[in-house]
Amino acid sequence: MSVAMASTPVVLFTEQEIAKRVMEMGREIRDDLEDVRDVIVLCVLKGAVFFCTDLMRAMKLGAKLDFIQASSYGSGTESSGVVEFLKEPQVVMTGKTVLIVEDILDSGLTLRKIDDYVAARGAERILTAVFLDKPKARKVPFQADYVGFEIEPHFVVGYGLDHAEAHRDCPEIRILPG
Ligand code: XMP
Ligand code: MG
Repeated sequence: MSVAMASTPVVLFTEQEIAKRVMEMGREIRDDLEDVRDVIVLCVLKGAVFFCTDLMRAMKLGAKLDFIQASSYGSGTESSGVVEFLKEPQVVMTGKTVLIVEDILDSGLTLRKIDDYVAARGAERILTAVFLDKPKARKVPFQADYVGFEIEPHFVVGYGLDHAEAHRDCPEIRILPG
């Protein structure tokens, strides 16, 4: 963590709170999906990587893993509103249960577009797990099936979330100093 981040007072969630909540989410998903064959986890690059690897180890479902990368932010803190795919998954989704794992649900534009994409690839059932949700920031309606924590519409960093690629490795979730 940089000196500037270490002196930032606003820690929203500590490492311990994050670990506890991710473990709870993993158990809940495991209870819901343990009878489903061939679960595919679709991790949204890059931010969700940290959450996704922790969540999969808590789920213990033997799920397959693939990645999708969507971009709508550039290096700013405001969504451009235009979502583009920078990487598409290779895994076959036809007839499968796909769990999309995302770091944060904000305007809803990214998950709306990914959900539509996964449906077009033939998934039978689509579920979404997000670590953070900013329900007040929605521009299109979207409800995740599994939510770690609901937060106010602050711009947050840490646990995979970045500002211009910085702070992903911060183990806490912090509000980006204004
Ligand atoms: P939308 O608006 O499409 O946004 O729901 C989802 C994507 O936007 C990024 N995002 C954030 N990244 N701190 C971040 O580091 C935030 O507070 C934040 N809010 C949105 C994120 O990449 C997410 O995938
Ligand atoms: Mg993201």
